[in-house]
Amino acid sequence: MRHLMSPLDFSVEELDKLLDLASDIEANPKKYAHACDGKKLATLFYEPSTRTRLSHEAAMLNLGGSIMGFSSAESSSAAKGESVSDTIRTISCYADICAMRHPKEGAPMVACQHSSIPVINAGDGGHQHPTQTLTDLMTIRSLKGHLGNMTIGLCGDLKFGRTVHSLINALVRYPGMKFVLISPEELRLPGYIRHDVLEKNHVPYEEVVRLEDALPDLDLLYMTRVQKERFFNEEDYVRMKDFYILDAKKMKLAKDDMYVLHPLPRVNEISTEVDDDPRAAYFKQMQYGVYVRMALILTLLEIEV
Ligand code: NCD
Repeated sequence: MRHLMSPLDFSVEELDKLLDLASDIEANPKKYAHACDGKKLATLFYEPSTRTRLSHEAAMLNLGGSIMGFSSAESSSAAKGESVSDTIRTISCYADICAMRHPKEGAPMVACQHSSIPVINAGDGGHQHPTQTLTDLMTIRSLKGHLGNMTIGLCGDLKFGRTVHSLINALVRYPGMKFVLISPEELRLPGYIRHDVLEKNHVPYEEVVRLEDALPDLDLLYMTRVQKERFFNEEDYVRMKDFYILDAKKMKLAKDDMYVLHPLPRVNEISTEVDDDPRAAYFKQMQYGVYVRMALILTLLEIEV
């Protein structure tokens, strides 16, 4: 039985296969409409979510399966003090696969050790968010036609942003990647990722503070929200929250084919005036999230269509 804890749980070949499957689902949705008849997905969300929880649910419904779950710790027995390991033992009796989001790093990993059904990490604290990475890879591949050989700017909260951490882990395995890490000093990418992931894999990167300085060289810009819920005090968040605002004027500095991605939710970091720019890809990105999660559910349940 397989789980998805990190994008590295799949080899590059397996990822390619999964993305091919997601593209086939996009092109032929009817073919997959009953692939999961009789199967159940449980979503165990101990942290807020709109896209990740509902796109997992939409994915299972599109495959003919059914869904159950909770959308906050307060509405589950976690509020009574139940452990993650006891909760997953319970869910294993009810569902065939589950997606778990938790504020504590490593909680889905604990769950998979006590689970008899596949567990998908739907975001664990500031650590990883592998299904967002699958979404991002499908988006990049669909827009650019390939993965690798590009300069990607990652902008915003690189310290707490789990989507960025997972995406870097996945992308360093493709040739010709270069990263520009755009953040204020206090929100720099953690040292363990700079050293153990980028430097160990000999992937070139530079760190800059000003978005304007980076924009002209980028093939792709990945914007992120300052992660309010991971700050220790409100003052620091307030000081950081509007550090970057991508607007139409800044977009003029970028290449004509520099797509803008964002895992969403957006707060102020992308002005709504950018939404109509043909390079704004963040709404398309969330649509891809449904197809990759359909492909992921089929893969983990070992269902072939
Ligand atoms: C991201 C997350 O939860 O980490 N959202 C998402 O799943 N699309 C990004 C964020 O909350 O900023």
